[in-house]
Amino acid sequence: MPIQSICCLGAGYVGGPTMAMIAAKCPDIQVTVADMNGERIAAWNSDCLPVYEPGLDAVVQSARGRNLHFTTDIRGAIAAADLIFVSVGTPTKSYGIGAGRAADLRYVESAARLIAEVSKGHKIIVEKSTIPVKTASAIQAILAANSSAEATFEVLSNPEFLAEGTAVADMEAPDRILIGGEPTAGGKAAVEALVAIYAHWIPRERILTTNLWSSELSKLVANAFLAQRISSINSISALCEATGADVDEVARAIGMDSRIGPKFLKASIGFGGSCFQKDLLNLVYLCESFHLPDVAEYWRQVIHLNDWQKSRFVEKIVRALFNTVNGKRVAIFGFAFKKDTNDTRESPAIHVCRDLLREHARLAIYDPRVDAATIRRDLAEAGIPAELLDSNLEICADPYAAAASAHALAALTEWDEFRSLDLSRLYDLMLKPAFVFDGRAVLSSESLKAHGFNTFTIGQGF
Ligand code: UDX
Ligand code: UDX
Repeated sequence: MPIQSICCLGAGYVGGPTMAMIAAKCPDIQVTVADMNGERIAAWNSDCLPVYEPGLDAVVQSARGRNLHFTTDIRGAIAAADLIFVSVGTPTKSYGIGAGRAADLRYVESAARLIAEVSKGHKIIVEKSTIPVKTASAIQAILAANSSAEATFEVLSNPEFLAEGTAVADMEAPDRILIGGEPTAGGKAAVEALVAIYAHWIPRERILTTNLWSSELSKLVANAFLAQRISSINSISALCEATGADVDEVARAIGMDSRIGPKFLKASIGFGGSCFQKDLLNLVYLCESFHLPDVAEYWRQVIHLNDWQKSRFVEKIVRALFNTVNGKRVAIFGFAFKKDTNDTRESPAIHVCRDLLREHARLAIYDPRVDAATIRRDLAEAGIPAELLDSNLEICADPYAAAASAHALAALTEWDEFRSLDLSRLYDLMLKPAFVFDGRAVLSSESLKAHGFNTFTIGQGF
């Protein structure tokens, strides 16, 4: 029986966009996205979507109301679905065993319990959330122990590889779709049913099927390898600054080796986002759990280097500004964890701003997509007391307002609009000597120099 009705639990950065794309590409399938957060669902049903992604509005508009629905009626959505994606959050556990490393699976477990309670007949359950390897067997056990006699289930793993900011393009033409299932007749049929959905727009040879555990583990490993590349190039950025080499030139030179490849070699103030650190920690914890301490230590170093890179950048700023930023205004350009998203989860900007505030700098932050409340919340959660935020934090509506009377400017996100700033205007607005710290190599260091700025660029130095 082909799938006629899908539901997705979790209307976040992953669940919302992926279901919108499936609905847009499969007009014959009803797709319902359910979330317990009523505000988020209302936003998905409005003209102002809760997720900023280039091209997403058009995808949602093409299907919403036709075969794409957003609801808080989670039970109703489960009951009506033949296939259920589980895309609820799996944050790093903050308490008890494995605190700070293990994935917190309580939302996945409660989703499984609810599915068991509500379901009648046969349903396919698809893990979309990134989870530790072997989670499928936990879901199977919960479903088997809690469901009525007439309910049957197959559990699949189908990790999502989209990157924020390019989600629509990534989903239109993914490098691959990965589906893991059990080698039983029922498992194979479930895999085929999910393959048929993606085959509406993705060539079959790009749809890879594996066993459950390979699929679950591949997601963690893909993110670990990507993060490792960034830590590798960031480690070299420090060496470039010390030697006069230019990290972008080195990246181009090594990237032309087809065995290395050109992507993910952009030096930065460190990687952020909801996935890399969480998945690395998760991988480290898994290795420890399976008594592989040396493997765990190897991957732990990727996070260590990333933290070092963020702290190193702050140190550069403080040292250059004559060893004190106390009371000095620093303009911060960009707060999102990368360009083209309003997401700030684990943004390296949080770390940099927190440390500058601890040095008693006065920050004037401009980001084209992140709102003031989010910036304030993130810094409060990072441990900055409310009084310090009241006195030393200003959120600005444009970059020039942020730069006015600033001692220094720090670029923390690579927004395209930063490439076409009016540098003479910025220079005139700032106190002298006017310092620029470019943590993304997004500004032209040549032009900055020509305009009179004292410039530090990551991977190039002063
Ligand atoms: C999340 C996970 O963090 C990630 O590991 C996984 O790959 C996909 O799901 P994301 O979509 O970015 O990623 O998370 P988030 O934006 O927090 O969305 C999760 C949604 O699930 C939230 O809207 C939350 O309200 C909802 N949710 C959570 C439920 O509806 N029910 C729950 O029990 C828990
Ligand atoms: C990542 C994976 O790319 C994606 O496949 C997975 O599904 C989720 O996690 P995402 O975190 O959305 O996606 O964005 P990504 O483009 O991978 O960037 C992550 C971080 O690395 C950002 O802070 C980005 O600025 C940084 N980065 C990326 C670099 O510093 N240098 C690079 O060369 C690439």
